Amino acid sequence: MITIKDLNVWYRDNKILDNINLDVPRNVILTIMGPSGSGKSTLLRAINRLIEIYPGVRVEGEIYVDGVNVFKARTEDVRRNIGMVFQIPNPIPNMSIFDNVALGPKLNKLVKSESELRDIVKWALEKAYLWDEVKNRLKEPAAKLSGGQQQRLCIARALAMKPKVILMDEPTSNLDPVATNRIEELMVELKKIVTVVLVTHNPAQAARVSDYVAFLYKGRLVEVGSSSQIFTSPKNELTEKYITGRIG
Ligand SMILES: Nc1ncnc2c1ncn2[C@@H]1O[C@H](COP(=O)(O)OP(=O)(O)OP(=O)(O)O)[C@@H](O)[C@H]1O
Ligand SMILES: [Mg+2]
Repeated sequence: MITIKDLNVWYRDNKILDNINLDVPRNVILTIMGPSGSGKSTLLRAINRLIEIYPGVRVEGEIYVDGVNVFKARTEDVRRNIGMVFQIPNPIPNMSIFDNVALGPKLNKLVKSESELRDIVKWALEKAYLWDEVKNRLKEPAAKLSGGQQQRLCIARALAMKPKVILMDEPTSNLDPVATNRIEELMVELKKIVTVVLVTHNPAQAARVSDYVAFLYKGRLVEVGSSSQIFTSPKNELTEKYITGRIG
């Protein structure tokens, strides 16, 4: 689903990502783990080109999503095909639960009628494990939801665009263990319909949910492998030190 070829990223004179090559199969969870400052968010933001909004950024290399070179595609298409969920849940607080999910499909004219819109909102909220909790309060502002519910709302908002890929940048780091657990279960369910790229600096979370794990250290991909291989027999000493808590 995703192929990254010789990706290099600089912020002004600082090289942040150094010759990244990575393949992500369809319908899996690939987790990028690594210490703070290793470039995880930068790598994620390169995939959907969010990185271009930062001044002083230079990008070299190629990223293909489902065969399309994202750097040559229209930004709106890239953003529609690649959803993103951030560390701090960011629904539009005064907007209703329904409208937060409906906004994207409406603006992008993905639906032809009000009933189609209602269907897609319901579908997305169901897929995000939120429907039962909100079906009787869809007109209430999103701000009234708990943090974990807001994060699931953001996942529903991303799903409503029917993306091919969802990028999640530490989606549970502001949530309690119960809410975290729900989101982890949800991610595993989501890979049936999308490819998930998750960023975490929590090796335990990576071990719980991932099919594949990429270990990033100081802007370099040190090791990529199946989750079981990385956590049981890492090939690189740095990976081993990281997963056993001796660095980062
Ligand atoms: N907008 C920016 N302008 C300049 N430098 C930046 C910018 N964003 C990030 N950096 C630098 O790029 C490097 C990688 O940052 P990035 O946010 O990708 O790391 P990270 O692995 O996501 O870290 P964390 O786990 O703390 O979120 C860091 O040295 C950071 O200071
Ligand atoms: Mg980050």
